Amino acid sequence: MSDFDDINERGLVLVGCGRMGGAMLKGWLARGLEPGAVTVIDPGLAPEWRDVGLRVNADLPADPAVLVLAVKPQMMADALGHVPQLRDTLVVSVAAGTTIATFEESFADAPIVRVMPNTPAAIGQGISALVGNARATEAHLDLAQALMSAVGRVVRLEGEHQMDAVTALSGSGPAYVFHMIEAMAAAGRAEGLPADMALELARMTVAGAGALAVDADEDPAVLRRNVTSPGGTTAAGLEVLMDAENGLPPLMVRTVAAAAERGRALGRGEK
Ligand SMILES: NC(=O)c1ccc[n+]([C@@H]2O[C@H](COP(=O)([O-])OP(=O)(O)OC[C@H]3O[C@@H](n4cnc5c(N)ncnc54)[C@H](OP(=O)(O)O)[C@@H]3O)[C@@H](O)[C@H]2O)c1
Repeated sequence: MSDFDDINERGLVLVGCGRMGGAMLKGWLARGLEPGAVTVIDPGLAPEWRDVGLRVNADLPADPAVLVLAVKPQMMADALGHVPQLRDTLVVSVAAGTTIATFEESFADAPIVRVMPNTPAAIGQGISALVGNARATEAHLDLAQALMSAVGRVVRLEGEHQMDAVTALSGSGPAYVFHMIEAMAAAGRAEGLPADMALELARMTVAGAGALAVDADEDPAVLRRNVTSPGGTTAAGLEVLMDAENGLPPLMVRTVAAAAERGRALGRGEK
């Protein structure tokens, strides 16, 4: 039995089919979700989705298994205004910053799962964290997890209070890593390498080390120690990078704390 049997029978509604909605849809269809079971609501739907058998901007099914909300947070109120009351439908939101309480104002009795995915979902390599409201059962969480597994790995949170930290770490994290690539490339240029070569070396080093860190059984700290000979070049570099006062650890703590604080401020409605 597929994870999507109930959805294929009752339907799934996807509101917003841009970068994240489109990435999820691609993953679901690849994993056996029938295009005819999907109703996409997106006034500006990209042409690539026009002829694959989806129900586009059509009437909603009476009792869909899942409603997935993937519009920008600032468009959420408008999008919710067009969704009728649902009876037994799991509501899944991937919108950064929009709280479960906000969705409960629109869907008073619904099971709701809030998800924070990240950009590598576009290539099926994302990491999503999810948390449900009081009405979300284990089966609802399993279904949300199956849906998000189509674009990468999934972790479950103990409570919504952890969402700002997740957003600051894995949600914003890809941008930190992109900047790490920029910084490593700039450092290579400073040591005399041509710009193109420095960028290629930095990009593939981050990609390869990341893949190795995911693939290996060992902890990243063990992998690091394995490539650090006493008195060698890596040790000399790490002595600077790992400096407890001026190195990466305190800088990363400040970086993630600033992002989490911004998430809390946005949650309080600050601009
Ligand atoms: N992209 C990511 O990596 C990422 C990561 C984590 C979370 N998210 C979350 O995912 C959500 C979507 O982000 P995104 O990057 O996919 O944005 P996006 O590419 O702009 O996609 C949103 C889509 O929704 C459409 N839309 C706008 N108003 C609508 C409405 N009232 N009803 C139905 N569809 C509507 C947009 O159409 P138009 O373009 O015509 O306005 C667009 O196609 C956001 O809430 C974001 O926080 C995204």
